[in-house]
Amino acid sequence: MAISEIRCPKSDEELDAMLGTPSERLIAFFQRARIRRLAILGIGGKIGVTLGIAAATASRRAGSGTEVIGVSRFSDSEARAKLEASGVHTISCDLLDEDAVRALPDADAVIFMAGKKFGTSENASLTWAMNAIAPINAAKRYLNARIVVFSTGCVYPLAFAESAGCDEQCPPEPLGEYAQSVLARERIFEYYSRIAGIPVMIFRLNYAIDLRYGVLHDIAMRVWQAQPVDIAVRNFNCIWQGDVIERALLSIDLCASPPRILNISGPETVATSDVAKYFAAAFGKRAILEGEDRAASPGYICNAGLSFGFFGYPSVPLTTMLRLTSEWIAGGGSSLNKPTHFQTTDGKF
Ligand SMILES: NC(=O)c1ccc[n+]([C@@H]2O[C@H](COP(=O)([O-])OP(=O)(O)OC[C@H]3O[C@@H](n4cnc5c(N)ncnc54)[C@H](OP(=O)(O)O)[C@@H]3O)[C@@H](O)[C@H]2O)c1
Repeated sequence: MAISEIRCPKSDEELDAMLGTPSERLIAFFQRARIRRLAILGIGGKIGVTLGIAAATASRRAGSGTEVIGVSRFSDSEARAKLEASGVHTISCDLLDEDAVRALPDADAVIFMAGKKFGTSENASLTWAMNAIAPINAAKRYLNARIVVFSTGCVYPLAFAESAGCDEQCPPEPLGEYAQSVLARERIFEYYSRIAGIPVMIFRLNYAIDLRYGVLHDIAMRVWQAQPVDIAVRNFNCIWQGDVIERALLSIDLCASPPRILNISGPETVATSDVAKYFAAAFGKRAILEGEDRAASPGYICNAGLSFGFFGYPSVPLTTMLRLTSEWIAGGGSSLNKPTHFQTTDGKF
């Protein structure tokens, strides 16, 4: 096979196609997994749309006949149209509505992605409802399915890079109500897994990188707009969204009762200041670093070593994510305008 660099997509459509193109490994998984129906709950968000496209495309290419259904409220009608166009059967449903969830079609595999993070400080009760009640409704509806549950590395305590990060043995110590409520999401699925034997996999993700949002996008945009980059949180980890999607779908095979937990991130622990300087050099601008004079704050440092044993290293290395992000932004690529707030260290989102 010829060796070539990954080319930066020129449009949202090209980026969706890139993230939604399944790997040969994913297609082979669909061929052997014998999933009749896959339900993706909370599909309408930043990761879900491209995950749905990848799943439907993998099913088609594998000839597996897996029906992919996507459930969300679809506050973004464009997301729904994209999914339908790629072969996902969409169903509008509020996962807080127990009767509506009960009426959802059966599925033998479920990816649970629904959640709420931003706006927690203004309306914490809604965050708790979304991250705790929706899981109850989903677990009770899908007692006979394998369920991959998206969670976050924010359930761990903050750490410094020198510590090598929190691995799955590290007890959760969530800071703030968002992280606490996501731990509730995990515990609820764990509870139903233990009492009803549901095979579950807890997918603790730290910072997916699309080009339209994510930590690298946030830092690059600030450098591009000559705004200061806060480097008080000195380090972080991230992973290409295409790799997140592949790992989430392959995780259906890793579900267990009681649940298996895996940290999902990239192998590199990145220095915030290095990233800002990289973008400054790429854009021919100056990096304005803020917070150098303050003591370094710990951040969410995730040790994803266990996951590499199952999946191997991610296919897209940090250097490529940096280059793609700089080319995307310099080329006028779109932004979701959804900052990650990765600098937050008080748990308040
Ligand atoms: N992106 C990351 O880097 C990252 C990092 C760590 C953890 N995670 C976790 O991964 C999951 C997916 O991430 P994401 O970035 O794609 O999240 P997201 O953009 O917030 O997407 C979640 C989607 O869930 C849907 N949803 C929310 N409440 C719902 C309800 N009551 N009923 C039905 N659907 C509902 C929403 O779509 P509708 O408006 O269409 O309903 C929302 O867009 C999240 O749960 C998050 O905790 C993500």
